[in-house]
Amino acid sequence: MTRFVLSAEVARVARVAVVTVAAVATVTVVAVAGQWAAAQSNAAGAADATGATGATAITGDAAAGRAASATCVACHGADGNSPTDQFPNLAGQVPGYIAAQLAKFQSGARQDPVMAGFVAALTAQDMADLDAYYSGLDGKIGGITPAQESAALAGGKIYRGGYKPYDIAACMGCHGPSGHGIPPAFPRLAGQPAAYLEAQLLAYKSGARVDPVMNAVAFALSAQQIRELALYISALY
Ligand code: HEC
Ligand code: HEC
Repeated sequence: MTRFVLSAEVARVARVAVVTVAAVATVTVVAVAGQWAAAQSNAAGAADATGATGATAITGDAAAGRAASATCVACHGADGNSPTDQFPNLAGQVPGYIAAQLAKFQSGARQDPVMAGFVAALTAQDMADLDAYYSGLDGKIGGITPAQESAALAGGKIYRGGYKPYDIAACMGCHGPSGHGIPPAFPRLAGQPAAYLEAQLLAYKSGARVDPVMNAVAFALSAQQIRELALYISALY
């Protein structure tokens, strides 16, 4: 297993920051997807986006979220870490992101035939509860094989430095140096299965998954760069 970690100090700081947020018993989430500008100002300020977006914040209850997660276990794992490569891990996700994505699946803003069925009956409170539960669990540490290492390192250059010819910003500027994300809008990527990451980046590239920031980022990347990035990120921790 190969894994990529920054200098121990940087990784420790990133992890502590995430743990601090996740350790709060009730997490305030915003059940609407913020625009990038709002997300940026949130990221710069507090995790609570209410002031910046004017959206209604709902406080999630992790225990209720745990109860509501019974129907999610088959695909996202009993501990929030998915048993197979097609399904994303939810454990350790930044507070706010899961509720926002569930709302997008429900409204059709993000389309997935499988998830559409599972979110149909959820209320905004259920989404906040599930968010509080999953964001408080420990995220998975992934890894790649030695044979995948050189491809992953090529992806790591883009992750850390961007891709100048097309003016693509470094991924770590929004997703964090060790891929742990920035609440509430910039998701944790570290440890997600490479197959899932690749599929999502291709969906942003084709426009099948809509997000103004990520559509622009992925549009300029080649399929090979996307594969390399997916490998690198899956081995980040
Ligand atoms: C039958 C399998 C299955 C079940 C059960 C399921 N999911 Fe999913 N989930 C998926 C798949 C597949 C995706 C990826 C969808 C895509 O490609 O956009 C996904 C994506 C997600 C995402 C987006 C994650 C991200 O990183 O963007 C969230 C959040 C999520 N599911 C939460 C849930 C919750 C909460 C439940 C239970 C109420 C649930 N899922 C039940 C298969 C499932
Ligand atoms: C300017 C900020 C920004 C930059 C730079 C950025 N991202 Fe993102 N990324 C986002 C936001 C915001 C989302 C959530 C979008 C949504 O709701 O669909 C996201 C979502 C993602 C997702 C989906 C995660 C999931 O769980 O489904 C992946 C994969 C991803 N980004 C990879 C990258 C990669 C690789 C790069 C660099 C090439 C990058 N991002 C650069 C802001 C950014």
